[in-house]
Amino acid sequence: MSNRKKLWSGRFSESASESLEDFWNSIGFDQRLAAFDIRGSIAHARMLGAQGIISAEESTALIAGLEGLAADLAEGKIEFARGDEDIHMNIERLLHERIGPAAGKLHTARSRNDQVALDMHMFAREACAETARLLLGMQKALLKLAAEQGDAVMPGYTHLQRAQPVLFGHHLLAYVWMFQRDIGRMQDCRKRANISPLGAGALAGTTFPIDREATARELGFEGIYPNSLDAVSDRDFAVELLAANALVAAHLSRFCEEIILWMTGEFGFIALGDSYCTGSSMMPQKKNPDLAELVRGKTGRIYGALIAMLTVLKGTPLAYNKDFQEDKEGLFDSVDTVQKSLFHLTGMLATLRVKRDAMHAAASKGFLNATDVADYLAARNVPFRAAHEIAGKLVRLCLDAGKELHELTLPELQKFSAAFADDVYAAMDLNNVVGRRTSAGGTAPAQVAMQTNQAEIAVAETESWLKTVAP
Ligand code: ARG
Repeated sequence: MSNRKKLWSGRFSESASESLEDFWNSIGFDQRLAAFDIRGSIAHARMLGAQGIISAEESTALIAGLEGLAADLAEGKIEFARGDEDIHMNIERLLHERIGPAAGKLHTARSRNDQVALDMHMFAREACAETARLLLGMQKALLKLAAEQGDAVMPGYTHLQRAQPVLFGHHLLAYVWMFQRDIGRMQDCRKRANISPLGAGALAGTTFPIDREATARELGFEGIYPNSLDAVSDRDFAVELLAANALVAAHLSRFCEEIILWMTGEFGFIALGDSYCTGSSMMPQKKNPDLAELVRGKTGRIYGALIAMLTVLKGTPLAYNKDFQEDKEGLFDSVDTVQKSLFHLTGMLATLRVKRDAMHAAASKGFLNATDVADYLAARNVPFRAAHEIAGKLVRLCLDAGKELHELTLPELQKFSAAFADDVYAAMDLNNVVGRRTSAGGTAPAQVAMQTNQAEIAVAETESWLKTVAP
């Protein structure tokens, strides 16, 4: 049993065992909210003074004490006590040690319920901005690689079977757009996290003449929750951030899977810097894409945190419930994992070497121009279904003869359709196959250049948004 006196001990005559306290205390993990908690308390103390709820001297003393704590915290000089339930109790006790009984005034017109909600909102909105910044870094690395190597031709796949050739840059840009949507989700999630629950009290508001708008303004919130019950029990913003993270993880996992495939001997499209790979303790020849595999593997815990949070919320009656304490570890872990994954993958991209010849060779074999043969005939009045059938038969012929389509002679081709003429060889040429896909969003160089411009505009927009949300 902890012999420290609880800050809520008035009506209690028996206390919980130490192991039970250890189970329900959150200080082990919510201490990472300390800086937010102090900032929130400073705003609250200032408002209490301004409203005449406490005296100006008391307000000043509270703020000075809290600022001292913030400075010590920044220097790593604060030690939290495991016996003090959570970060809010810890800060209040530390403040008490520093400024004496005046510390007892800080909690006037406030509950830990609106306090913890406030801290989590501050954490979430900062995480949204920071993750967006890291997503932007990833986009820039992809755009840089596309600028340098984007004109390399590679096989595009469906069902992981070679389908049609595409520009490497086109392939990279697909991820730029995924990350653009992720940034959009972070921005959107931030909007709803950026509403202040402070002043909701335990659940029903307070009898004191507080000014919720003032604390919201000081803390940079865009507004206040209109309903105190909702304010203390809303964890939608956590679910939204977890869901947005889950999609980031899905995108990263898909990208990592491609990196892993491309680095195999079978594909051989890329090489990665040694510093992002590891060797084998037994097989001297091995160089493994460990970071990419690990990030792919991290997806599970990120999805798991989303399901856990949704499940925590389910069936919780209004307003605050201790269940909500379970919002923290999953969200912290999800945010950390996504952010570290983005950071390290961005670094890895800078070491990625493109084996253009291998890509080109792979795109030249396996009948990636078969659609173009069908399109060629269709453009010469053969119904597309018939043209498809003819091209399929030609592929069959090539498979038996061990040839590629462009290696068939014109007479061989004409046995299947009189519509074939000499210009079919240009239609089958790899660069033309790519170059003629000029439809909007297609893989032709001109179209890829156009979407690169669009991506650069999106990058600039994110950059200016980030300037407006800097913590
Ligand atoms: N540690 C708690 C949490 O994370 C803080 C709020 C506690 N409020 C309460 N009434 N027990 O949710």
